[in-house]
Amino acid sequence: MSDACCYWFTGLSGAGKSTIAGELFPLLRERGQQPFILDGDIIRQGLCRDLGFSEADRAENQRRVAEVAAILLQAGVSPIVAFISPLAAARAEARRIVGAERFFEIYINTPLEVAEARDPKGLYKKVRAGLIQEFTGISSPFEAPEKPDCVVPTVGRTPRECARQIVDELLQTEKE
Ligand code: ADX
Repeated sequence: MSDACCYWFTGLSGAGKSTIAGELFPLLRERGQQPFILDGDIIRQGLCRDLGFSEADRAENQRRVAEVAAILLQAGVSPIVAFISPLAAARAEARRIVGAERFFEIYINTPLEVAEARDPKGLYKKVRAGLIQEFTGISSPFEAPEKPDCVVPTVGRTPRECARQIVDELLQTEKE
């Protein structure tokens, strides 16, 4: 049984965070971990429904999910956190809350043009039409991580390949 860890994804909206989290889930189970996905879109409907997209609210969003991740780790569960988490300082704070030795910062690296072309939720179209303000990568900053534990390029690769890369780079292979 592997030790529980926090897999903290960061990347633009439409980068593929939730999809890759879904692919990572069974790979972690195969390796004896008990994963749980914390997805920004879902957490924002409940725990963080009072928060918007100002820098202060995004930082608070990250802080809360980091505290939840820390609780899950205490229960032996491995949180996969799929939040844009655009601010380096808030990610550093999350690392501190969770505990650096069990925190993996994983950069889901999809260029803005690609995320915008994918536009899985039709949000970029709305942003360009002026219907959404403070949108990450366009009218609100995304601070790419300087020293992530893993950089996952998504262009030209399947979500499954991306998830495999994470496991290959971050988990020691366990021999029978
Ligand atoms: S974070 O910046 O605070 O980490 P989080 O991951 O929780 O963001 O939520 C991002 C999701 O909210 C996006 O995938 C998108 O569906 C939606 N969203 C709505 N408005 C915005 C906005 N202004 N900027 C970014 N995402 C937004």
